[in-house]
Amino acid sequence: MADLSNNLVQSHTPTRRDFIFIAAGSFAGLGGAISLWPILDSFNPSADVRAVASIEINLEPISPGQRLTVLWRGKPVFIDHRTPQQIRSARADDKAELIEPETDAERVQNPDWLIVIGICTHLGCIPQGQRPNSRTGKWGGWFCSCHGSQYDTSGRVRVGPAPRNLAVPPYKFISETLVKIG
Ligand code: FES
Repeated sequence: MADLSNNLVQSHTPTRRDFIFIAAGSFAGLGGAISLWPILDSFNPSADVRAVASIEINLEPISPGQRLTVLWRGKPVFIDHRTPQQIRSARADDKAELIEPETDAERVQNPDWLIVIGICTHLGCIPQGQRPNSRTGKWGGWFCSCHGSQYDTSGRVRVGPAPRNLAVPPYKFISETLVKIG
Protein backbone atom coordinates (compact mmCIF):
# COMPACT_ATOMS: atom_id res chain seq x y z
CA MET A 1 0.00 0.00 0.00
CA ALA A 2 1.25 3.49 -0.77
CA ASP A 3 2.63 5.62 2.02
CA LEU A 4 -0.46 6.98 3.75
CA SER A 5 1.32 10.03 5.08
CA ASN A 6 1.92 11.28 1.53
CA ASN A 7 -1.68 10.96 0.61
CA LEU A 8 -3.57 12.41 3.53
CA VAL A 9 -4.37 15.64 1.88
CA GLN A 10 -6.82 18.36 2.61
CA SER A 11 -7.84 20.61 -0.25
CA HIS A 12 -8.49 23.42 2.20
CA THR A 13 -6.41 24.96 4.93
CA PRO A 14 -5.92 22.33 7.61
CA THR A 15 -7.65 23.11 10.87
CA ARG A 16 -7.40 21.71 14.34
CA ARG A 17 -10.44 19.62 13.47
CA ASP A 18 -8.51 17.91 10.65
CA PHE A 19 -5.74 17.06 13.09
CA ILE A 20 -8.23 15.49 15.44
CA PHE A 21 -9.56 13.24 12.68
CA ILE A 22 -6.10 12.07 11.71
CA ALA A 23 -5.10 11.46 15.31
CA ALA A 24 -8.28 9.52 15.98
CA GLY A 25 -7.74 7.34 12.92
CA SER A 26 -4.15 6.61 13.87
CA PHE A 27 -5.27 5.52 17.28
CA ALA A 28 -7.71 3.10 15.68
CA GLY A 29 -4.78 1.53 13.84
CA LEU A 30 -2.91 1.19 17.11
CA GLY A 31 -5.91 -0.58 18.56
CA GLY A 32 -5.66 -3.12 15.74
CA ALA A 33 -2.03 -3.83 16.62
CA ILE A 34 -2.76 -4.16 20.30
CA SER A 35 -5.43 -6.75 19.55
CA LEU A 36 -2.70 -9.12 18.37
CA TRP A 37 -1.28 -9.36 21.86
CA PRO A 38 -2.15 -12.66 23.51
CA ILE A 39 -3.74 -11.09 26.52
CA LEU A 40 -7.29 -11.09 27.69
CA ASP A 41 -7.47 -7.33 27.34
CA SER A 42 -7.21 -7.69 23.59
CA PHE A 43 -10.87 -8.67 23.57
CA ASN A 44 -11.83 -5.56 25.50
CA PRO A 45 -10.72 -2.54 23.52
CA SER A 46 -10.60 0.65 25.51
CA ALA A 47 -13.38 3.19 25.34
CA ASP A 48 -11.07 5.44 23.31
CA VAL A 49 -10.61 2.77 20.65
CA ARG A 50 -14.32 2.01 20.50
CA ALA A 51 -14.99 5.73 20.16
CA VAL A 52 -13.25 5.94 16.80
CA ALA A 53 -15.61 3.36 15.32
CA SER A 54 -17.42 6.40 13.99
CA ILE A 55 -16.39 9.97 13.33
CA GLU A 56 -18.39 13.11 12.72
CA ILE A 57 -17.28 15.64 10.16
CA ASN A 58 -18.39 19.22 9.88
CA LEU A 59 -18.81 19.79 6.15
CA GLU A 60 -19.37 23.52 6.41
CA PRO A 61 -15.80 24.61 5.51
CA ILE A 62 -15.65 22.43 2.37
CA SER A 63 -16.62 24.44 -0.69
CA PRO A 64 -17.91 22.92 -3.94
CA GLY A 65 -14.95 21.51 -5.84
CA GLN A 66 -12.93 20.81 -2.69
CA ARG A 67 -12.02 17.40 -1.35
CA LEU A 68 -11.08 16.35 2.14
CA THR A 69 -9.43 13.17 3.37
CA VAL A 70 -10.19 11.86 6.84
CA LEU A 71 -9.14 8.68 8.55
CA TRP A 72 -11.80 6.26 9.66
CA ARG A 73 -10.81 2.98 11.27
CA GLY A 74 -7.34 3.44 9.85
CA LYS A 75 -8.59 3.91 6.28
CA PRO A 76 -8.56 7.10 4.24
CA VAL A 77 -12.05 8.31 3.39
CA PHE A 78 -12.45 10.77 0.55
CA ILE A 79 -15.12 13.42 1.01
CA ASP A 80 -15.83 15.25 -2.22
CA HIS A 81 -18.06 18.33 -2.33
CA ARG A 82 -19.05 17.92 -5.94
CA THR A 83 -19.75 20.78 -8.31
CA PRO A 84 -22.93 20.74 -10.44
CA GLN A 85 -20.74 19.82 -13.42
CA GLN A 86 -19.25 16.85 -11.56
CA ILE A 87 -22.72 15.65 -10.59
CA ARG A 88 -23.98 16.03 -14.17
CA SER A 89 -21.01 14.13 -15.49
CA ALA A 90 -21.50 11.29 -12.97
CA ARG A 91 -25.20 11.00 -13.80
CA ALA A 92 -24.65 11.24 -17.55
CA ASP A 93 -22.50 8.13 -17.31
CA ASP A 94 -25.02 6.02 -15.41
CA LYS A 95 -25.72 4.07 -18.58
CA ALA A 96 -22.14 3.96 -19.82
CA GLU A 97 -20.39 0.64 -20.06
CA LEU A 98 -19.18 0.29 -16.49
CA ILE A 99 -16.86 -2.31 -15.01
CA GLU A 100 -19.10 -2.50 -11.93
CA PRO A 101 -22.45 -1.04 -12.97
CA GLU A 102 -23.96 1.28 -10.37
CA THR A 103 -25.89 4.49 -10.83
CA ASP A 104 -24.64 7.62 -9.18
CA ALA A 105 -27.85 7.78 -7.14
CA GLU A 106 -27.04 4.37 -5.69
CA ARG A 107 -23.71 5.71 -4.44
CA VAL A 108 -24.65 8.98 -2.80
CA GLN A 109 -27.20 10.07 -0.24
CA ASN A 110 -26.92 13.71 -1.20
CA PRO A 111 -25.73 14.41 -4.76
CA ASP A 112 -23.55 17.26 -3.54
CA TRP A 113 -21.43 14.91 -1.44
CA LEU A 114 -19.57 11.82 -2.57
CA ILE A 115 -18.08 9.85 0.33
CA VAL A 116 -15.91 6.85 -0.52
CA ILE A 117 -13.10 4.82 0.96
CA GLY A 118 -9.93 6.06 -0.73
CA ILE A 119 -8.35 2.69 -1.41
CA CYS A 120 -7.95 1.39 -4.95
CA THR A 121 -9.85 -1.85 -5.36
CA HIS A 122 -7.01 -3.45 -7.32
CA LEU A 123 -4.17 -3.87 -4.82
CA GLY A 124 -4.95 -1.22 -2.25
CA CYS A 125 -2.98 1.86 -3.29
CA ILE A 126 -4.35 5.27 -2.44
CA PRO A 127 -5.42 6.96 -5.66
CA GLN A 128 -4.38 10.49 -6.57
CA GLY A 129 -6.95 13.24 -6.93
CA GLN A 130 -7.36 14.64 -3.46
CA ARG A 131 -4.51 17.12 -3.67
CA PRO A 132 -5.15 20.25 -5.76
CA ASN A 133 -3.66 19.79 -9.24
CA SER A 134 -3.03 16.08 -8.69
CA ARG A 135 -4.05 13.62 -11.38
CA THR A 136 -7.75 12.88 -11.51
CA GLY A 137 -7.74 10.81 -14.70
CA LYS A 138 -9.86 11.09 -17.82
CA TRP A 139 -13.14 11.10 -15.89
CA GLY A 140 -12.13 13.72 -13.32
CA GLY A 141 -12.35 11.46 -10.30
CA TRP A 142 -9.22 9.69 -9.10
CA PHE A 143 -6.19 8.16 -10.76
CA CYS A 144 -4.30 5.26 -9.25
CA SER A 145 -0.69 5.57 -10.30
CA CYS A 146 0.20 2.06 -9.11
CA HIS A 147 -1.23 0.35 -12.21
CA GLY A 148 -3.29 3.03 -13.94
CA SER A 149 -6.85 2.47 -12.76
CA GLN A 150 -9.13 5.47 -13.14
CA TYR A 151 -12.29 6.42 -11.29
CA ASP A 152 -15.01 8.89 -12.24
CA THR A 153 -16.73 11.60 -10.21
CA SER A 154 -18.95 8.95 -8.66
CA GLY A 155 -15.93 6.89 -7.61
CA ARG A 156 -16.79 4.23 -10.18
CA VAL A 157 -13.90 2.43 -11.82
CA ARG A 158 -13.72 3.30 -15.51
CA VAL A 159 -10.36 1.80 -16.42
CA GLY A 160 -8.90 -1.22 -14.66
CA PRO A 161 -7.17 -3.31 -13.57
CA ALA A 162 -9.22 -2.33 -10.50
CA PRO A 163 -12.27 -4.61 -10.57
CA ARG A 164 -14.63 -2.61 -8.38
CA ASN A 165 -15.82 0.89 -7.65
CA LEU A 166 -14.41 2.73 -4.66
CA ALA A 167 -16.32 1.40 -1.67
CA VAL A 168 -18.92 3.55 0.04
CA PRO A 169 -18.56 3.42 3.83
CA PRO A 170 -21.61 3.43 6.11
CA TYR A 171 -22.53 7.02 6.88
CA LYS A 172 -25.48 9.25 7.61
CA PHE A 173 -26.20 12.92 7.56
CA ILE A 174 -26.99 14.19 11.02
CA SER A 175 -27.76 17.60 9.56
CA GLU A 176 -27.11 19.33 6.24
CA THR A 177 -23.56 20.08 7.27
CA LEU A 178 -22.71 17.28 9.66
CA VAL A 179 -22.05 13.73 8.56
CA LYS A 180 -21.31 10.70 10.68
CA ILE A 181 -19.13 7.97 9.17
CA GLY A 182 -19.35 4.56 10.77
S1 FES B 1 -3.52 -0.71 -6.90
FE1 FES B 1 -4.62 0.76 -8.04
S2 FES B 1 -4.36 0.10 -10.05
FE2 FES B 1 -3.29 -1.39 -8.93
